[in-house]
Amino acid sequence: MKILGIWGSPRKGGNSDVLLDAFLKGAAQGGADVEKVALRELKITPCLEIYHCFKDGTCPIKDDMQPLYEKLLVADVVALASPIFFYGVSAQTKAMIDRTQAHWSKRYVLKQDFPGPERQGVLLCTGATKGKYLFVGARFTAKYFFDAINVTYAAEILVRGVDEKGAILGQPEVLARAEDLGRRLAGGEKFGPIKLKPLAV
Ligand SMILES: Cc1cc2nc3c(=O)[nH]c(=O)nc-3n(C[C@H](O)[C@H](O)[C@H](O)COP(=O)(O)O)c2cc1C
Repeated sequence: MKILGIWGSPRKGGNSDVLLDAFLKGAAQGGADVEKVALRELKITPCLEIYHCFKDGTCPIKDDMQPLYEKLLVADVVALASPIFFYGVSAQTKAMIDRTQAHWSKRYVLKQDFPGPERQGVLLCTGATKGKYLFVGARFTAKYFFDAINVTYAAEILVRGVDEKGAILGQPEVLARAEDLGRRLAGGEKFGPIKLKPLAV
């Protein structure tokens, strides 16, 4: 069981970092082979929209996204951790997601065989405020990211009201929930699928 954690905050030791670490700690305790990818340490160019991927499902931009494409294919569980920035995921997270257009193209344009959908996706998000719609943008982005890489949107932990670095440590019950989720996914438990209600505008 391979569990891949993708962490999209620029702030080391911040809230999504702590949350993902709790999740991965549980996953490791549950026996999974765990890997954490810190997007802040990678150079990932935003999608250039040249549609090369429509031809063969690959992206010609030679940067740190290339090894991630393979990791996204072989993971049994993909956990995406991001802070909320302006009601969406962080720019680091979004750049990585946009580049998975190459995987989307393999699935939907070229109709190639693709692993999944028994694989599972988890969204872990932290935000400062407490508004009802705080996670709407991130959840929709996650839904279509998970679809592009053919993992089922299985579970999510969305944490409101955490702003200062490490504020999430004041919510030990949330961290225990993240650990438990990691442990259960490592054990092969199935969750979801999470269905989102469309929002009319
Ligand atoms: C550029 C920026 C934009 C933000 N936008 C929002 C926002 O729209 N809503 C909100 O509740 N918090 C917002 N925040 C606060 C962060 O979501 C919050 O501090 C979060 O816990 C940070 O997680 P991290 O420590 O993992 O980076 C923003 C913070 C920054 C730096």
